[in-house]
Amino acid sequence: MATERLKIDLTYLGPESMLIYPLYTDTGEKILEARTALSIEIINNIIQKHGKIVYYSFADEMGNIPNHRIYSALNKSREIMDEIIKTDKISKGKYKESEDLIEVILNDLVSSETDTIKLLKDLNSYDDYTYNHSVNVLLLVSVFSNKLKKYSMEELKSLLLGAFLHDIGKMKLDKQLLNKKGKLNVTEFQKMKRHPQLGYEIIKSVASSDVIVQQCILFHHEKYNNKGYYGLPYENLPMFPKIISICDVFDALTSRRPYRNAASPANALKILLNSINNHFDYDLVDKFINILGPFVNNTKHFYGRHEICELNTQELAIIVGLGQKDILKPEIIVFCKYQKSRSKINVKFYDRPFRVNLEEDDKRIMINVLSNEYQVYSIKNRLLERSLLKMEAREPSSMDIEGKTIN
Ligand SMILES: [Fe+2]
Repeated sequence: MATERLKIDLTYLGPESMLIYPLYTDTGEKILEARTALSIEIINNIIQKHGKIVYYSFADEMGNIPNHRIYSALNKSREIMDEIIKTDKISKGKYKESEDLIEVILNDLVSSETDTIKLLKDLNSYDDYTYNHSVNVLLLVSVFSNKLKKYSMEELKSLLLGAFLHDIGKMKLDKQLLNKKGKLNVTEFQKMKRHPQLGYEIIKSVASSDVIVQQCILFHHEKYNNKGYYGLPYENLPMFPKIISICDVFDALTSRRPYRNAASPANALKILLNSINNHFDYDLVDKFINILGPFVNNTKHFYGRHEICELNTQELAIIVGLGQKDILKPEIIVFCKYQKSRSKINVKFYDRPFRVNLEEDDKRIMINVLSNEYQVYSIKNRLLERSLLKMEAREPSSMDIEGKTIN
């Protein structure tokens, strides 16, 4: 079986991370089983025996949904999109074929415990994005909704079909508009905003089409702050388009687009976290990150110790321990309070920073992990100036809050 190998420098792995795949030496000897929680002892032990460079290897399989099924979905996506471009509609036959394909994928999923997911990211042209995206959203929604263990098989079937077809309305828009480099102007954005309605009209003309599929196509661009395409009240919307929406955004962020580079999975998860109370609600983001995060990011946590996070209480904290039961609830040291007024941010540093385990604090919620390097650098400098941080000379990553100032 063909395998891909990734070189890993163990000194960059934090304790408490968990790798989805096994670790190997350069000669292929297995060093560590998949899904072993790492500790400093384990890492040091491997470094002592095998050196700090090891290999992380994963089989050329795309989870428990077989490759050939994923490529069937990709071909089906092409056939459907091409049909819509030529005829402005989707035939009863193609709709039925999509239903059959979804049913087989659902059977693959429920008959085995999925433990990995690999999305289609190799693009030969920008046009490939549209086809790949429909398959990727289908894959993400499949694993996510199945692991939620909340829905019947009938509901899952409709949801997965909705995921597969969510963007078909785009086939009625100009190619230049879809592949435009740079930001869309107001007129172009108005045109883009029509794709859910156009998709709904295409799918409604298929007599046998499902109401859940129709809702997924119509409402997948609504937002928690009611500033989505239609501006509908989020709390009244059904759950299925919301599930599609978060998977849609994750795949879009991690894909290379004509106007920007792809974000890494860890950064995309940070962006999703930062979208709480704007694009998505806390519960959905929390579930997405805890259920799908480890699958798409290869390790359990998308942040590390010493990163700086923002709390709902308008406080900043430094992460000192990774969330175990809930990834979004790490152990932190809260060091300042801030207030945003217009374009200014007023910061008040605490004289005595204090340690909080977010798993035991029902008042504080982590809503952002700062990813702007300049911002992080300047905050850490201010902590150093106030002697709230100590920095060990040769290891810039081993910054820590000074023990004496902690409650
Ligand atoms: Fe869309």
